[in-house]
Amino acid sequence: MRITYRSKNNKEYWQKRWDDVEVDEKMENADVYPLKYAQIAIDDKEGRILEAGCGAGRILRYYHDLGYDITGIDFIESVISKLKTTDSSLKVAPGDITNLDFSDEYFHHVLAFGLYHNLEKGLDKALAETSRVLVSGGVLCASFRADNLQTLLVDYLAEKNVNHKASAAKIFHKANFTRNEINQYLSGAGLTPVSIYPVVNMPILYKFGIFRQRAHKDFNENLGRKEGYKLNAIGNLIQKFLFKFFRYQFCNLFVVIAKKDQS
Ligand SMILES: C[S@@+](CC[C@H](N)C(=O)[O-])C[C@H]1O[C@@H](n2cnc3c(N)ncnc32)[C@H](O)[C@@H]1O
Repeated sequence: MRITYRSKNNKEYWQKRWDDVEVDEKMENADVYPLKYAQIAIDDKEGRILEAGCGAGRILRYYHDLGYDITGIDFIESVISKLKTTDSSLKVAPGDITNLDFSDEYFHHVLAFGLYHNLEKGLDKALAETSRVLVSGGVLCASFRADNLQTLLVDYLAEKNVNHKASAAKIFHKANFTRNEINQYLSGAGLTPVSIYPVVNMPILYKFGIFRQRAHKDFNENLGRKEGYKLNAIGNLIQKFLFKFFRYQFCNLFVVIAKKDQS
């Protein structure tokens, strides 16, 4: 597992990120990450769903509005309050994935997009908790930041942009995982991986203005999150080539679907 260091600690990063935006509308495009993968995992309407690390609620609200029984938790209390104010019928609560406030075998599905790689300590505990609250045979759909060429380059570019003093501080930001490491961590918690997908959430070329679509000329993570990180024609061509031939090196996430072992 490779660690990415930045100048702000992880919880400060999420606090600021969610303080800077309104709550999400429900996601519209089911063909893109993360909804595309949630839909593979959730194949029927019965049974409770937990979205762990629900953030501003784009997936939570999608399933809630369709009448699914979905609960969201996040360790940023203010984003949970904002969600509750926006729609008081949402089932949301502040919570930490390393210590969940639910009884054993309470959920049929757990969605955890971009969650586990935020943990500096306690990944084993977080996965044990995830497994504990899942029914036997229940399904986890989760994404992990990939340990590959793309995230190495992204980290190198980020490091170049901060002053030396901040980078020397070496504060934990995120963990990065190989596919083998993900398999090992999940198996250790009694979760058997069924499929693992390389996923491009933000193409590496989006970091460079010359490859972005005109409306995305100024780098804007919130716009990208809403519309997708859009490249121009040349950017798309190069991106297609990179992903076709080097998909495990030029993705930023591994999305895994795993089943809790039958007891
Ligand atoms: C990449 S965001 C994903 C948000 C949402 N799932 C989505 O896809 O839009 C990861 C989320 O995990 C939350 N998070 C990080 N560490 C956590 C922890 N220990 N317990 C609960 N939530 C946590 C962050 O606050 C953030 O909202």
